[in-house]
Amino acid sequence: MIVITTPTGDIGGQVLNALLESELAGGEKLRVVVRDPAKLADPVRDRVEVVPGSHRDADVVDRAFAGANAVFWLVPPAPRAPSLEVAYPGFTEAAARAFTTHGVEHVVGVSALGRGTPVADRAGLVTAALAVDDLIAGTGVAYRALANPTFMDNLLRQVDSIRDRGVFTHTVVAERRSPTAATRDIASAAAGLLLDRSWTGVGSVPVLGPEDLSPDDLARTMSEVLGTPVRYERQSLEDFGATLAGYGVSDAFVRGMVDMMRAKEEGLDDGVRRTPDTASPTTFREWCEEVLKPAVLG
Ligand SMILES: NC(=O)c1ccc[n+]([C@@H]2O[C@H](COP(=O)([O-])OP(=O)(O)OC[C@H]3O[C@@H](n4cnc5c(N)ncnc54)[C@H](OP(=O)(O)O)[C@@H]3O)[C@@H](O)[C@H]2O)c1
Repeated sequence: MIVITTPTGDIGGQVLNALLESELAGGEKLRVVVRDPAKLADPVRDRVEVVPGSHRDADVVDRAFAGANAVFWLVPPAPRAPSLEVAYPGFTEAAARAFTTHGVEHVVGVSALGRGTPVADRAGLVTAALAVDDLIAGTGVAYRALANPTFMDNLLRQVDSIRDRGVFTHTVVAERRSPTAATRDIASAAAGLLLDRSWTGVGSVPVLGPEDLSPDDLARTMSEVLGTPVRYERQSLEDFGATLAGYGVSDAFVRGMVDMMRAKEEGLDDGVRRTPDTASPTTFREWCEEVLKPAVLG
């Protein structure tokens, strides 16, 4: 039995689809934990066991992990949380206990790059995500943390600005190159780890994308693929924080986002070398053609 959290989310949904399309060893079953089962597509709901509720809650994970061998674990973004401790390790506490109670053998979690870098302990959301990895690793379960850079897919939040004004924003220097990965590659790495569970112990699996790119590089490729000029506008950390606060994001989450962006500028995502094992296949150009362009064209 493999349990998948966030089956209605970007990564969780793609993990579920990948597993549904795979040969599951020995007739292994899939179970999803979902707040609103009506959000699952009918053909999906017919092929999985459904545990309704939030995977933060002890009674829900107790039901979800009974008889489970492996779990895909993702902490949802919680922009209104009173603290990052509540949003990340706090969200995972009941599950960590339930992994042990129910003898879950393998867990694959969605985490972030940064462990071992000098800024790891002041990187806001990433520091909190690394604390989740430590919490899960401390249970004794075999654990792989997917160590992710900034997602290419974050740009989908700026589709209106890209289409209407030819502008996208971020906070890093225009020429600063960093890794970026497509969520489809992150989901595929998760599905691979869930399907072949010959791994043991604790470790991280970086998903670095095929190349480091700067905001200017992204603007150039978007302009070419969309056939219309797109330029990068750098936002100060103060303006970035004020924009988030304007959307009703909690003080703690704003601080966490700002600290994470500052840490990215200071090398948070630069600690892992790209090798055939840490690279992931989808290029930014492919992602623009297959995901961004259809979204921009509506
Ligand atoms: N964006 C980045 O660049 C980046 C980089 C590194 C790591 N990450 C990590 O990636 C994760 C985000 O993944 P994603 O993009 O796949 O997320 P997403 O698309 O925003 O999906 C969020 C999922 O969480 C569920 N959810 C929301 N609040 C919940 C709650 N209180 N209880 C239970 N379920 C809840 C949602 O379900 P409903 O349908 O019920 O709302 C949905 O399935 C975060 O952990 C983040 O820290 C992000």
